[in-house]
Parts: sequence; structure tokens; C-alpha cells
Amino acid sequence: YDLTAHNTFGLAAHSQFARTIVDEAEIPSLFALADQQGLPVRMLGEGSNVILSERFDGITALIATRGRELIVGDNGDLILDAQAGENWHALVAHTVGEGLWGLENLAGIPGTVGAAPVQNIGAYGVELSDRFVSLRAYDRVAGAFVELDGPACRFAYRHSLFKEHRGRYVVARVRLRLSRSAKPELSYRDLSALAAPDHPSVVMDRVLQLRAAKIPDWRGLGNAGSFFHNPVVPAAIGAAFMAAHPTAPAYAQADGAIKLSAGWLIEQAGLKGYRDGPVGVSAQHALVLVNHGGASCTDVLGLAEHVVTTVHDRFGIRLQREPELL
Ligand code: EPU
Repeated sequence: YDLTAHNTFGLAAHSQFARTIVDEAEIPSLFALADQQGLPVRMLGEGSNVILSERFDGITALIATRGRELIVGDNGDLILDAQAGENWHALVAHTVGEGLWGLENLAGIPGTVGAAPVQNIGAYGVELSDRFVSLRAYDRVAGAFVELDGPACRFAYRHSLFKEHRGRYVVARVRLRLSRSAKPELSYRDLSALAAPDHPSVVMDRVLQLRAAKIPDWRGLGNAGSFFHNPVVPAAIGAAFMAAHPTAPAYAQADGAIKLSAGWLIEQAGLKGYRDGPVGVSAQHALVLVNHGGASCTDVLGLAEHVVTTVHDRFGIRLQREPELL
């Protein structure tokens, strides 16, 4: 089964078997079947945050469950309940179209609802965890569906429980908190000029504009968004770094650690726009690795290694990969 069109990087990839899941009830039976046949199973949404290997000897489950529902919560808040296979941006655009606040800063992020909690998607001052209520997932170890609240999901910057136990949980639906009253989050520098927006679409439109200017569209140039985490270094290392590079972006964290900008590090290491055969570092945003056409997993991992080594030699900081290698 050809998965080249099932990953936003556009990497050439094959799976021995593929199965489209349209109802969460099919998840347990798929695992039962796979166990019987002795085949590994992996989950794929829209493949927007993965590096697919060239071959997978097993079953790739394509999550295509659809549905969304608005529920009134105990305190008058609105809870949005969405199935894992829904497209994330379409969901955001729908809620914004209804005049509901909450998800507008997270507009334009590629991928599905089910993938969003895995890396705790975040952009323009908001993380999924800020709007999260709970989720329903199939727990392969327990052999049952479980309900997990925010603390149980262990959310942190680009991190969750689901990264700690890869392959154990399959997210089936996600519940998020929305609001009818204006609650704009404008702390991100490029949004502060919006002053007092009276509709979430004002924020969404600005976010989409910013994204279009910075992040290459995967439909034209395959990519998986930010390829590395922004490195968070201990206070002492951060202070030394800032003294040596006073113009570098650096953000103090609540615990005193310093978050540096991976895009800045890669650009300063001279790699923005660098190309190696079919793959390269985006000339638009140094944190994005791109497929110029015909790339495989091996090409991407080779380039990633070169970026990590070059940045480490120059700054002594080791970048960590963000998308999952499947
Ligand atoms: N920068 C450079 N050169 C570049 C790109 C960036 O020097 O080529 C520096 C600039 O100083 C810029 C700073 O890096 O001000 C920050 O850049 P940007 O605002 O684009 O954000 P980012 O830290 O690179 C993060 C997320 C993005 C998210 C944006 C906006 C991570 C790994 N990435 O990028 O998320 O959209 O902030 O909030 O945290 C993703 O995860 O796939 C993703 C795109």
C-alpha cells in the first residue's frame, strides 16, 4: 500500500497492509486481528508530523473517524467533542465561524484532531493543553477504552503521555473548552497589534497570514512543520549563551530555564536554504526541512543528522527531532 500521499513530507513509503478506520469500535478488533496474525500495527492520521520509513511490514491503520458535537458544560462553558479523524484546521475554522473563542491561535496547523494531543500542538501563544478537557483513547495494554483528563495526559511543550508510551494508546475523541465571550490571547509578539479583536476570525486570519509567510505549504513543498524542538537549556547555560550572542532570541521559562530558538541556531550555523539532493533546509524558515521531490526517510534523516552536528559544533547545543519516525 503506497503511503506517499499519506504524509505531508511526501516521502516514498509503503506498508504491507493498510486499513481505514471509520468507527472507533473497529480499533479493538483490528488489534485482535493483528495479534492473531502476528503483525505490528501503527496509526496514521494525515501524516503531518511523521517521517515514514520506506517499508513497514505490518498494518497501517488510517484513522478516518468523523464527527463533532458541542455540549454545554456545568458552568455554561461550551465543550467541543470531536473524533480523531477530523481535520484539525477544518474544526478550528468551523468553531471560529460560529463565533466561538478558544482555538483561533491554532488555525492552519496540518493534521488530525487525534494527533493534536500527542505532540500537544502549539502556536502563537496557545497550546492544545490550554483548551483541553479530556480525551477518549483505546489503551492497548488494558485492552479497553479509557478517559484521560489533562493531568493524566502529562502535557508539556511538544510532549505528552502518548510520547512516553508510543504505540500504547490510540486517541479516539478529544474534548476541548470553548467560549462564547471574547478571550483573545495576544501575547505572541506578532499578534499584539490586534488590540481588542471583536471576533475570533480576526485572530485566525492574522495567524493564517503569519503562517503563510513563514511556513512552506506542504502541498507545494513537502515538510512536517518544525523539524526540531526549540531547545530548553538550564539557566546557567542560557546565561552564557545570551552573553555570547546578545541578539539571539531567548525566552525565560517559569522554572528559570531558557528556551532558545532552533530556527535562529540553524540559520546562524549557515544552513538556511541548504540543499542536499532531494532534501533541504527551507529558505523561508530554517526550522523546516523540506522535500524538493522524491525524497525518502533516509535522505531526511541524513540531512537532520548534518543539521544537528553542524549546530552542535557551532553552539554546543544538541537539537532534538520533533516529528516521529514511523
Ligand atoms: N528564526 C530565525 N531564522 C529562521 C526562523 C526563525 O532566526 O529561519 C528566529 C527568529 O528570531 C524568530 C524566532 O526564530 O523570531 C522564532 O521563530 P517563529 O516565530 O517562526 O517560531 P519558532 O520558534 O521557529 C514555533 C513552533 C511553531 C509555531 C511557531 C509560532 C516549535 C518547534 N515550533 O516556531 O510550530 O508555529 O512557534 O508559535 O516550537 C510546528 O511545531 O510544526 C510549528 C510550526
